[in-house]
Amino acid sequence: MDKVNLAIVGCGTISQLNAPGYLEHNDCDVVALYDPITERAERRASQWGIAPRFHESFEDVLNDSTVDAVELLTPTSLHTEQIIAALDAGKHVSCQKPIAGTVAETDAIAEAVARSDKTFRVTENFLYYPPIVKAKELIDSGATGELSMVRIRTVWSGIESNKSYEVEEGALDWRRDASLNAGGLIYDDGWHKVATAMWWAGDVERVSSIVTKTDDFMMESPSAAIWKYADKNCLAVFEYASAANMPLRTKYYPVDEFMEIIGTNGVLWVTRCTGEMLDMPPVVFHHDGTTTSYQVPMDWIESFKGAARDFVDSLIEERQPNMDIRFAKKVLQTTLAFYEASETEQWVRPETLT
Ligand SMILES: NC(=O)c1ccc[n+]([C@@H]2O[C@H](COP(=O)([O-])OP(=O)(O)OC[C@H]3O[C@@H](n4cnc5c(N)ncnc54)[C@H](O)[C@@H]3O)[C@@H](O)[C@H]2O)c1
Repeated sequence: MDKVNLAIVGCGTISQLNAPGYLEHNDCDVVALYDPITERAERRASQWGIAPRFHESFEDVLNDSTVDAVELLTPTSLHTEQIIAALDAGKHVSCQKPIAGTVAETDAIAEAVARSDKTFRVTENFLYYPPIVKAKELIDSGATGELSMVRIRTVWSGIESNKSYEVEEGALDWRRDASLNAGGLIYDDGWHKVATAMWWAGDVERVSSIVTKTDDFMMESPSAAIWKYADKNCLAVFEYASAANMPLRTKYYPVDEFMEIIGTNGVLWVTRCTGEMLDMPPVVFHHDGTTTSYQVPMDWIESFKGAARDFVDSLIEERQPNMDIRFAKKVLQTTLAFYEASETEQWVRPETLT
């Protein structure tokens, strides 16, 4: 394959960020769109300056022999069924996180991946955010030394400024429905942070946490978890809090992250991610008695563009892109372990969740 013909399935909120990387890629054509709200697919095509085929059902997308790969940007409860159907129809599949609400569903996806000769990956944009990638390079190069602590702080604001995207009608309805969404933000957004922390430092052995439930199913604040990594003397602290009255500069969601990694050789900070809260370099590393700042691209859209680029390149180069089903299952188990540990007030080993 030297060119990827892609169908985008689900043209709602996140398609505004997922599509640009595909549209910019010289070796990718977005040839088809499908959304049950036809007007949305048509509006996107016009915004993106493309003339794709508009399909009337997901089945039609799968029967379209010109489509090599699908990017699934649909409500989370549809992911498992659509991933399996698309793989069984012979399409390469990239699907937004979280891929499933239960561990059993990830096992069913793993079976579909095993019987398919096509590629499956989860679109985990955080693993392509340049400051997070830079931190990974510094860790893997040995610059930080042996890790002993990873801290990931998320702060939500109720007031956003500089917004450049629109949340589609209904996008919060399915999220707030417990029958369609396995959890609130600790699951839906926590997935990214767990994926990042595991990508940096490895598998999770056991988790303890307090997840606070509020009247709003999504808003689980304040919440915090700690975990021990497997096979190393390293802990992680995961914090989730709301600063509801604090205006937050952001082009995207009204949230920002701050991450800290402590190793035997130094302390490394990723100072931002989704938002633009602090006027600081995005990566700062204190080591050898000196502080080094790294000015890498830091607009959050770069994470989505990187994810799109890598999916296309991986199909052409015939390699598995980050995040495969094995990794995805572990991330789901860890996010679900946060809830289990909080409810039972016990340590939970993610691998025991089935
Ligand atoms: N990476 C991130 O940071 C990030 C951010 C937001 C959302 N997401 C994920 O992306 C997914 C979509 O979220 P969203 O905010 O875009 O939701 P949304 O509700 O705005 O968009 C979903 C779209 O899917 C369409 N749809 C519904 N049923 C469908 C079907 N059977 N087939 C095809 N399309 C269908 C809807 O009409 C809607 O346009 C979710 O899994 C969410 O967790 C990821």
